[in-house]
Amino acid sequence: MKRNPYFSQLSPSYLFSEIKDRVQRMHEHHPHISLINLSLGNTSEPLGCSTADALCQAATDLKNPSSHTGYGPEGGLLILREAICNTIYHNAVSPDEIFVSDGAKSDISRLQLLIGPMTHVAVQDPSYPAYAESCRLGRSSDPSFFSYLPSPLFSKPLLCTVPDNAVLFLCSPNNPTGEVFTHAELETLISHARRHQQIIVYDTAYQAFIQGDYPRSIYEIHGAEEVAIEIGSFSKMAGFCGLRLGWTAIPHALRYTDGQRINPDFCRLVATVFNGASLLSQQGGIQVLSLEGQKECQRQIDLYRKNTHLLQTALVQKKISVSGGRHAPFLWVKTEHKNSWDAFDFFLEKMGIVVCPGVGFGPLGEGHIRICGFGNPASVAEAASRIDRL
Ligand code: MLT
Repeated sequence: MKRNPYFSQLSPSYLFSEIKDRVQRMHEHHPHISLINLSLGNTSEPLGCSTADALCQAATDLKNPSSHTGYGPEGGLLILREAICNTIYHNAVSPDEIFVSDGAKSDISRLQLLIGPMTHVAVQDPSYPAYAESCRLGRSSDPSFFSYLPSPLFSKPLLCTVPDNAVLFLCSPNNPTGEVFTHAELETLISHARRHQQIIVYDTAYQAFIQGDYPRSIYEIHGAEEVAIEIGSFSKMAGFCGLRLGWTAIPHALRYTDGQRINPDFCRLVATVFNGASLLSQQGGIQVLSLEGQKECQRQIDLYRKNTHLLQTALVQKKISVSGGRHAPFLWVKTEHKNSWDAFDFFLEKMGIVVCPGVGFGPLGEGHIRICGFGNPASVAEAASRIDRL
């Protein structure tokens, strides 16, 4: 077989794999150094008790002949889709507009299959690398088909650089900067998208961390259902990184340029390429969205916020320029005279702290690193004191 030519548009390894390799090399050369990993947004707190109980019950049900089930519906259990509509969207979206998935990252790639080959895709810079990389795998990254949009991108002149009929990948809170769109900014984006027949893919993986009066979902804004697909995740909200559970909302009102509806195509796509998310994870997800489950999530989120605050305080005391940290457990740190990878090496070698080089999130991430507050409190406290001793 011939190689997919677009593989050559990718760097040899994915950002987080490259970090893992460098950490491994560090371990091999300096086995005595205890490393603290604050790079990947990987949750460390245990699951909430009621959620863990729901998972055990689901396993028990599968063990009994009378309650055993095989495949579930490809789009997810109705009761979970109803709970997502109710708890996350306050019923602004209906269950047949929700497709339960094995996580945001898989859906980012699946969505690429919906996008026609000559469509321009614009990606926020900096942002989660999976958007740009999954686009590059399926299309030419010639500037007529792919562009980066500097953040903040709600300014009209910038938006005007995106061609009509394009697809825009946005995330709020932004990963890695932690910036969040305001209602007014989203209104501008949506009305621009409506006028120019653009589709917004809006990733809300970190929405549970938003504080204050900011939109948690794009569907809080009038007209969004005509231009926006939304991706959600249980990973950071409930500690499901390893359990894999998320969803994509595709409203019935969304249409391709030629007027055909997008929702039936996604339904067809999901049935073709996916057999549905794990039933165990889905039962856990139903419990996460209950009142008790949400309280358990809130406790985890409060703890990650405290971690992030501790790290931020240590950095600020060292007069290091840092932003973010309020609406996402990420600190976006300016590296002054070092490039991102040099700053990565500096943190690794001088403090034994693993961070993320900002350039991995897009060209404008150069000169930054991302430090994340998902570690367990003891290791975060140790990281803060290593920064303090620097
Ligand atoms: C990260 O940026 O660390 C990601 O959110 C990890 C992931 O979910 O792939």
